[in-house]
Amino acid sequence: MKNICLNIDKVAKFVSKEGIAAYEPQVKAAMKTLEEGTGLGNDFLGWLHLPSTISKEHLADLKATAQVLRENCEVVIVAGIGGSYLGARAVNEALSNSFQWLQTNHNGPVMIHAGHNISEDYLYELTEYLKDKKFGIINISKSGTTTETALAFRLLKEQCERQRGKEMARKVIVAITDAKKGAARVTADKEGYKSFIIPDNVGGRFSVLTPVGLLPIATAGYDIEKLVEGAASMEKLTASDVPFMENPSAVYAAVRNALYAQNGKKIEILVNYHPKLHYVSEWWKQLYGESEGKDHKGIFPAAVDFSTDLHSMGQWIQEGERIIFETVISVEQPACHLEIPSDAENLDGLNFLAGKRVDEVNKMAELGTQLAHVDGGVPNMRVAVPELNEFYLGQLIYFFEKACGISGYILGVNPFNQPGVEAYKKNMFALLNKPGYEEESKAIRARL
Ligand code: PA5
Repeated sequence: MKNICLNIDKVAKFVSKEGIAAYEPQVKAAMKTLEEGTGLGNDFLGWLHLPSTISKEHLADLKATAQVLRENCEVVIVAGIGGSYLGARAVNEALSNSFQWLQTNHNGPVMIHAGHNISEDYLYELTEYLKDKKFGIINISKSGTTTETALAFRLLKEQCERQRGKEMARKVIVAITDAKKGAARVTADKEGYKSFIIPDNVGGRFSVLTPVGLLPIATAGYDIEKLVEGAASMEKLTASDVPFMENPSAVYAAVRNALYAQNGKKIEILVNYHPKLHYVSEWWKQLYGESEGKDHKGIFPAAVDFSTDLHSMGQWIQEGERIIFETVISVEQPACHLEIPSDAENLDGLNFLAGKRVDEVNKMAELGTQLAHVDGGVPNMRVAVPELNEFYLGQLIYFFEKACGISGYILGVNPFNQPGVEAYKKNMFALLNKPGYEEESKAIRARL
């Protein structure tokens, strides 16, 4: 079995091997802090050994619940936002057929997300679409009080009960929330929904390997055992006893900090050459953005889908301000096989490609871009993923999580809190006259 693999050859022009090796003491200290739980945010380290400790019984319970949804629903709405949304979407989209939503012969329910925006049009169109559908809901919220999710769930719960009856609704609504706190817990207990607990010590953006990610992934029909197995194998490959330069998470954390601190590279662009990985990038952006962007520090995580965005962002990346570096997720083997046909007239001049696989063209675009961007002053790391399956996605998830914990501690921030996300909520509640926000309401209205 291969593993995902980090290649840093194309950063050599920007940071020397010695410059990276110099980070070893800081990386080791960060890893020790994580292992011993002595750093900032140490009450949120439940993700660290999660893959190796998930029990077979827990996975079986998740799979059985997913099966109930699969048997009783044409459509399953996954309600959640941020860490309660992106991991499941990332894995499901990476594994599913690009045109699944257009197909009629589904192997399982159509998976749709809600509760990740407050768009009236989105919610109206969703409720319209669901009018004649046998649908179920996975309601995910750790706090149980997130406005976006709670609002969507209020609408969907009422519609589900109206269309399917109270008894069936009870069967096809599942809650994933805190053990005791929050409105989602109160509702689940009162209505008698099947529920799963989000562990106290796992923050939203690190929660994809809890029921938050695992139930929607199993419901979509993917193998959560393989996903966890992949993550557990990466837990071993990034453990404290692995030598620094052989530990991909340690090296990735060191290189990005070196580029930031020594080269003024303030923006990291996660690049993919497969549109199915778009939401992996969205998940990664939250993981790094929320973990590191604080105390007026942190690399800004951006993402592009190539080669699509080479035709829109390519110019900026090649010649704009030199404050960026790229990390490319490169899938080695596509799942499908498609050769370019020969054409007798060769009107489009593409016969030089006849007989080649489409992926070979994609790979040359990738290689050509890498060399061009490095020449243009953009350091380039590459994460090679042997193929897109549950095992390697599990490896990728844990690789990035572990690197994020290490990187945040090297940067000197608490990688596990997100105080900044409260500011907009406070203002929104004040503007909406939420009970308890009377003073804030007065103050904010005076500013308008
Ligand atoms: O990472 C985080 O903590 C956030 O993105 C949360 O996951 C997000 O705000 C949703 O919160 P909750 O699960 O409490 O509804």
